[in-house]
Amino acid sequence: MTQTPEATKIHKGLAGVVVDTTRISQVNADTNSLLYRGYPVQQLAAKCSFEQVAYLLWNGELPTADELADFESRERADRALADNVKAAVDLLPVSAHPMDICRTAASVMGANHPLSEDSSKEANLKKSLDLFAAMPAVVAYDQRRRRGLEAVPARDDLSYSANFLYMTFGEEAAPEVVDAFNVSMILYAEHSFNASTFTARVITSTLADLHSAVTGAIGALKGPLHGGANEAVMHTFEEIIRAADGDDVARSVKTWLDDALADKKKIMGFGHRVYKNGDSRVPTMKAAMDKMVAHYNRPDLGELYKGLESAMTQAKNIKPNLDYPAGPTYHLMGFDTQMFTPLFVASRITGWTAHIMEQLEANSLIRPLSLYDGVDERQVP
Ligand code: COA
Repeated sequence: MTQTPEATKIHKGLAGVVVDTTRISQVNADTNSLLYRGYPVQQLAAKCSFEQVAYLLWNGELPTADELADFESRERADRALADNVKAAVDLLPVSAHPMDICRTAASVMGANHPLSEDSSKEANLKKSLDLFAAMPAVVAYDQRRRRGLEAVPARDDLSYSANFLYMTFGEEAAPEVVDAFNVSMILYAEHSFNASTFTARVITSTLADLHSAVTGAIGALKGPLHGGANEAVMHTFEEIIRAADGDDVARSVKTWLDDALADKKKIMGFGHRVYKNGDSRVPTMKAAMDKMVAHYNRPDLGELYKGLESAMTQAKNIKPNLDYPAGPTYHLMGFDTQMFTPLFVASRITGWTAHIMEQLEANSLIRPLSLYDGVDERQVP
């Protein structure tokens, strides 16, 4: 067996390893803060549209009024579902996970794109905007076809968030629902070197094109330890309600949690690799969720949220992450549970593509080493 050299330390899961610098966002676990290009994410969520935040992530500064008007008109002009993307989606069964639909659509959009092989900054900005503008139509259409409904064409007189909800549900959403959705898009947009963003940077480091990197990132985001957690939260809620079997749900939370922890299950929507004292994005998303609980008159969901959070704090002192309030919020808005992670995709396209462009500015092939611990050399008999 190969011996571990004294100097070789294995960084399982790359935990604690700093692999590069970034100017896009700063996650500060000690102060529970998250800055996009220097701005606290809470302030961006309170004062900005998702379009402004996308512009900020890509360009480093918030847009002026003229820049925003130009950006919005380009985004609105680019919202349609391309015929061959729709055809590709239609070839896939409705039993497929919606993340598979997103991943396939991103790949088809790449093959479609006239600038596919051009990785200049200008071309990548254009491709990023095209993906950002068109992905909502894919997600909205996929949600509708699962309900046996036709696609609803995009409108160019609505904001990104208002149009996203309109294309999904076929009617204009109430302003408070649009606001909560906008907040969720901003909070999901960027989070430094998380697993999917790192995947995008690894793919980019080989000088593969932007759509390849985004397609790979979508695959990484699908997993329940990453983006898939927002949908898993809703499954947890459903399990708890089923386990209560008509009795008081709040009482059954503790029993459910004790059993789950005894079975060594990870409780989805809790814990974080970087934040150990709470996720900086949770209070803002929780406030948006509370507004939706009131809007849809579902205090029961608010109670269940509180019940599991406090039981988890008591049992393990592990705090919720962004997916915990985001899941129930999307449920209240009317999305199917499986559609939650694609909503995260639509948002995170902005962060991924900002990182793809940053990686290319000072690229170095990402290729770590491994320590072999298989059988020693031997001869084929
Ligand atoms: N439920 C139950 N226990 C959890 C937990 C959770 N959600 N998150 C962490 N823990 C426990 C671990 O089992 C471990 O306990 P141990 O020391 O007794 O083995 C301890 O807390 C430390 O956790 P660790 O696995 O080292 O944390 P990590 O940094 O590797 O993992 C996550 C971070 C996100 C993968 C993990 O918290 C998790 O799986 N969360 C649920 C999935 C989720 O919500 N993902 C979205 C993240 S934004």
